[in-house]
Amino acid sequence: MSTPIVKKDEKGIYTLFVNDKPFFCRSGEIHNSSASNLDFMEKEVWEKLRGLNMNSVIVPIYWEQIEEEEDKYDFTLIDSIIDKARKEDMKLIFLWFGLWKNSESMYVPGWMKQDQETYFHVEKVNGEKLNIISPLCREAVEKDKSAFSNIMKHIKEYDEKESTVIVMQVENEIGVLGSERDYCKIAGEAFDSEIPKVVGNIYDAKGSWKEAFGDDAEEYFMAYYYAKAVEEIASAGKKEYDLPCYVNAWLKQYPWYRGSYPTGGPVREVHKIWKEVAKSLFALAPDIYVPYCADVIDEYTYDENPLFIPEIRKDAVASSYCLYSFFGKNAICFSPFGIEELSLDPSAVDKPPMEVMIALNIDPSAFDITGSKDKLSAAYGLIKNLEPIYLKYRGTEHLKSFVRHGENDFGAFTGFESYDVEIAYSPRMAAHPLGNVSIFELSPNKFILVGTECSLKFRAKPGENKKADYIKLEEGEFINRKWKPGRILNGDEKMTLKFGDMPKAYVAELYKY
Ligand code: DGJ
Repeated sequence: MSTPIVKKDEKGIYTLFVNDKPFFCRSGEIHNSSASNLDFMEKEVWEKLRGLNMNSVIVPIYWEQIEEEEDKYDFTLIDSIIDKARKEDMKLIFLWFGLWKNSESMYVPGWMKQDQETYFHVEKVNGEKLNIISPLCREAVEKDKSAFSNIMKHIKEYDEKESTVIVMQVENEIGVLGSERDYCKIAGEAFDSEIPKVVGNIYDAKGSWKEAFGDDAEEYFMAYYYAKAVEEIASAGKKEYDLPCYVNAWLKQYPWYRGSYPTGGPVREVHKIWKEVAKSLFALAPDIYVPYCADVIDEYTYDENPLFIPEIRKDAVASSYCLYSFFGKNAICFSPFGIEELSLDPSAVDKPPMEVMIALNIDPSAFDITGSKDKLSAAYGLIKNLEPIYLKYRGTEHLKSFVRHGENDFGAFTGFESYDVEIAYSPRMAAHPLGNVSIFELSPNKFILVGTECSLKFRAKPGENKKADYIKLEEGEFINRKWKPGRILNGDEKMTLKFGDMPKAYVAELYKY
């Protein structure tokens, strides 16, 4: 068996291969501190992940617990989590809470927290220190490198044969929150120096950062130093065990100014720098809590950046974005955040306090789980059951996928060989998914349709002077990857082919008259 890898498949689509087979991460990320205690994991997490049709889970591993004493490593938590994941038949994506987590240095070991002379912090323009170890601090990066390499070495020894651990996230939502850049002495000297060759080559620029990039200088500068640090850490780890690695972004969002989101993190505007400097990473991934998720999904999916969503809102819209991400954007991973809560009674969910929402700039409705669990589970079930059909049709004109992008997006109109399809999204309702549909053209007159909250009409092609109707419209479900037909809806029900709030599938056979 070979090591998990992200590479292009025979159609040229970036794909995660686990045990040499394509693997689509139907995932969820657990809360930040859940994995710091095994009893908590046992009581509050593992059993709550059952019944969601997940095949993988994103679990943090904490530097402060792994290297509590400098240079002494304790892998107990890692091993126990791997053991348990195997029992639960789940794959793991480990999230390395190293030097940075949501910009800050929250999870570095106590010995590092207390030695701020060696492990110096980012400073604001007025000299105020932020709780962020500077990416220009060589000693700190060296320590993180060494911890991450030791972890990767250990995971290889413990898990290489089984490949329970399939992907690594390196750090979390890095960048400087609270200042447009690091103004500490070393950073200041670097900022005034000639830009590095690699950056000069990307933009065909020269001079100091300010001379080369004007108003963008601070962000480009931070992006370079964060990307460089992450590259050193990731590549050192990969030398020990070559698992696919990615980083995630706190998005650039309202109120937009640098430092209101972590500046220098892998936001879309600085991907060129990240891609060139941090070549060991297979993806720059978005954490999506904004109301306009579909725009972000589109923006973060491009040729050299396969879609990997480590965090996304977990309200009922998640199921629609899930179907769109896999069927429309060839996602490698989809993963709502705080996944263990989906199984709870919505009224029992401890909504993060408003201060946390404000500090993290999160739309509060993103955490409302009313109606989420069954829908996400149904969407994941469809992804699982349709996998062979999806693999056959993806990357071809026989599979098209749509999702409502915003308030003024009313639907779509699309064409296949013999029929056009008119899609009308239902009005948006609280605790419901969004309008979306994925259409698989199995033959010129036979389609699998999967979606929520929209209605469809098939039309003959323009100029044909014909109307389209159903030979047979079947509801049903996929069980063990086989279509099990239910009712044939050839009576009143076929007047409109309508998807409701639960992700489901139809098979439609058409004719023209
Ligand atoms: C994004 C971060 O990456 C997560 O660790 C977590 O803090 C969520 N925001 C919000 O709870």
